[in-house]
Amino acid sequence: MPDRYAVIGNPVAHSKSPWIHTEFARACGQQLEYVRIEAPLDAFGATVEAFRASGGRGANVTLPFKQEAFRYCAATSERARAAQAVNTLVLDRGAPWGDNTDGVGLVRDLEVNLGFALQGRRVLLMGAGGAAQGVLPSLLAQGPHRLTVANRTPDKARALAARFEGAQGCGYPELAGAQFDLIVNATSAGLAGDMPPLPPLETLLAPGALVYDMVYGRDTPFLALARSAGVRTSDGAGMLVEQAAESFLTWRGVRPDTRTVLAALRRR
Ligand code: ATR
Repeated sequence: MPDRYAVIGNPVAHSKSPWIHTEFARACGQQLEYVRIEAPLDAFGATVEAFRASGGRGANVTLPFKQEAFRYCAATSERARAAQAVNTLVLDRGAPWGDNTDGVGLVRDLEVNLGFALQGRRVLLMGAGGAAQGVLPSLLAQGPHRLTVANRTPDKARALAARFEGAQGCGYPELAGAQFDLIVNATSAGLAGDMPPLPPLETLLAPGALVYDMVYGRDTPFLALARSAGVRTSDGAGMLVEQAAESFLTWRGVRPDTRTVLAALRRR
């Protein structure tokens, strides 16, 4: 029997994680099985327990269960506590342990794959929901000059930023006159074909700026706008592969090479 892993979410049919982890296992010469499990919205814990009872050794957790997974775990990593969300469960070492690899995945994609060093940069993070909260601590840890969190509901941005020294929260209109080297879209606006109400990009972006959308597998209005303004852009495919690699490392003790898998994912 190969070791068993899963991604648990709702919906989960679209998840690329089984494909990514199967590619990692192949490249590392490891035997494992990785499946999708759709948990009922009111039965996340029971779903994890059933998977664990059937021999499941670890799982990734995706929407909408990351915060619930954090509460479910008996113990968590420091970065999961900072994000108050768990995307990686370790189930084969005693009580369930939770980690969050989303932030480090984004940082590795920015710094290693895209060659964008965060230290000293002016960063705008759009959104104040679970996705933004998951990556904010890791972005801050890289020592940006400034990290601004902007949100449609400004109070949520202010509340999120208040939890972290060095972050400021605001609404979109308050961004007028500010300049950034990096904008990360962590809102779900793109999934609805919409984009946050930003001031004009020409005024907001410093020369050589990078625009990043955590959504992958689709062209969001935000990325399309930035591209048409001649700005360098990236979708979230690299973050997806990097967070998976960090989970794989936690479970299997080896860091898979992400470059070939990311290139293959982009070709698919
Ligand atoms: P997730 O876990 O993906 O972050 P979420 O917790 O529901 O999902 O948060 C969604 C985020 O996208 C929020 O910051 C939301 O803004 P509000 O807090 O004001 O609701 C943001 N968002 C969603 N649709 C948006 C839109 N059309 N324009 C701007 N922001 C949007």
